[in-house]
Amino acid sequence: YPKKDFVGKRILITAGPTREPIDPVRYISNRSSGKMGFAFAQIASLRGAQVKLISGPTSLSTPYMVERIDIETTEEMLKSVLDNFEFCDVLVMAAAVSDFKVDQQSSKKIKKKNSLELNLIANPDILKEISSLKKNQVVIGFAAETENLSENASKKLVEKKLDYIVANRISETGFPFGSENNEVLILSASGECYELNSTKIDIASFILDIIKERISF
Ligand code: C5P
Repeated sequence: YPKKDFVGKRILITAGPTREPIDPVRYISNRSSGKMGFAFAQIASLRGAQVKLISGPTSLSTPYMVERIDIETTEEMLKSVLDNFEFCDVLVMAAAVSDFKVDQQSSKKIKKKNSLELNLIANPDILKEISSLKKNQVVIGFAAETENLSENASKKLVEKKLDYIVANRISETGFPFGSENNEVLILSASGECYELNSTKIDIASFILDIIKERISF
């Protein structure tokens, strides 16, 4: 059994994809399985933290002792993060948030036709929205990159005012979606840099180890 070194700490985790409706039966989404966020929730809970998991649609079961809040759209995820951010010590944004939503959702199912144009507009960036509300929370973002992993990750670290960013390498050998394993580069605002190729559970546990001294116990 893991050590109970996060007793009394509150960890807010987002996981999975979001869904942006097109009409009552169709939506736009992505390939996120939710496994990274759920693994984080599981290990944080086992280490004694009080965990809230804001989850998009996934087929995963809720880890033991974790409070789960189900959402579908980015707007719903943003609202739920805003409701809970003030009361957490750590925010882990592992969700693959949809950057776009359909401008005019149809209230009726769109009929079959030769072509269909959808106008997509920008969704809010949840991490940017909460950056101004940040007090003592440790904020961890995730990024999936196919190229220039460290450049893109450090750019996001600064732009989103994160304490840590965990960048997934997406390559022929490292395809993180749905996998138990992940190849990651972890960068911190204070200049730390770690490279790991491990299970999602071990990566989550490693992150808990390195953030531990940042949280006041
Ligand atoms: O999509 P992107 O690579 O910018 O995602 C990096 C981080 O930002 C992730 O932690 C993701 O959860 C978060 N994000 C967000 N709101 C968005 C898009 C991404 O908070 N609209």
